[in-house]
Amino acid sequence: MAVTTRVHPSRPAPGAIRAAARVLRAGGLVAFPTETVYGLGADALNQAAVKKIFAAKGRPATNPLIVHLSDSGAARELAGEWPAPAGALAKAFWPGPLTLVVPKRPEVPDQVTAGLGTVALRVPAHPVATALLREARLPLAAPSANRSGEVSPTTAAHVERALGDAVDMILDAGSTEVGIESTVVDLTGRWPVLLRPGGVSLERLRSVVGRLEVQEGAGEPGVAQSSPGTLARHYAPRAKLRIVERAALARLGQHQGRVGAVVLGAAGLSANARIIRLPDDPAGYARGLYAALHELDDSGCDLILVEGVPDTPGWEAVRDRLRRAAEVSPAAGLS
Ligand code: TXA
Ligand code: MG
Repeated sequence: MAVTTRVHPSRPAPGAIRAAARVLRAGGLVAFPTETVYGLGADALNQAAVKKIFAAKGRPATNPLIVHLSDSGAARELAGEWPAPAGALAKAFWPGPLTLVVPKRPEVPDQVTAGLGTVALRVPAHPVATALLREARLPLAAPSANRSGEVSPTTAAHVERALGDAVDMILDAGSTEVGIESTVVDLTGRWPVLLRPGGVSLERLRSVVGRLEVQEGAGEPGVAQSSPGTLARHYAPRAKLRIVERAALARLGQHQGRVGAVVLGAAGLSANARIIRLPDDPAGYARGLYAALHELDDSGCDLILVEGVPDTPGWEAVRDRLRRAAEVSPAAGLS
């Protein structure tokens, strides 16, 4: 079972960070908070350590990992090339919830990149992540700290429940701020391409790079992807999940079994169901979404009804995650 150490989210105790860095330097696994979700970290340059990540998550070896660095200088050291838009995006959004895919240097192991000639790099903004990266003096490969395909963790308790036996140490700094994963942008082609919507909105990216293509299928499940994490089978709770109109929520009681619901804003709903209200702004909603899905799953719901979110700019990452969660759900035939 992992050792969970509580740390202050903005001023983590140096002793705890040193202990975690020792585990990482010895080839162990440490789950740590980032501003998006908790990551499952290992020394990105140690092949045996990286293999442990895949084993712990049950992750296919074909799905490459994001490498986390303490600053953009360290990121550039792992990049074979650093295209102009990479510089502009790094300057605008690092540290922060943005991941840049660039050609890799040979020293990045094939396990990390799933054999691709490119590497995904991110400088996270969470003070605990930063402290750990600085103390360990290592690039850290870190996917979200959940079992492959399941909902990402936004608290240390989520990590413990999913991976407690497989990780050496968990740094617990409370709930993460952004709540959904980083935006992934591919910079290896002629134009920057959005592979996964996330913590930095499309609008904000375009304000920096101008032209940004959206990979066909990024945001649409079921389409062949060059970024495997954007496959449909991701971010799903154990319960069936359906996206519904507000009106359908009134019929909550008609469903067999235990039903949960996620609604927008201050809905005047009362029903024989577990109802979680999330803020009606995209940032507030994203912050609470995964915790809501974990909670409904853990309370034994077999169906989760989620009120549809607005189809307006700023909501694309939330819409993407909800669509994927619903896509893998066998609930389509239910009313
Ligand atoms: O916010 C986040 O990004 C979190 C925190 C821990 O940093 N990490 C995260 O990692 O979400 P993961 O492994 O769950 O998702 C990584 C995504 C996947 O969609 C993966 O396919 C993509 O990044 N990716 C990684 N390397 C890539 C590469 N070389 N080319 C294209 N996509 C890549
Ligand atoms: Mg993930």
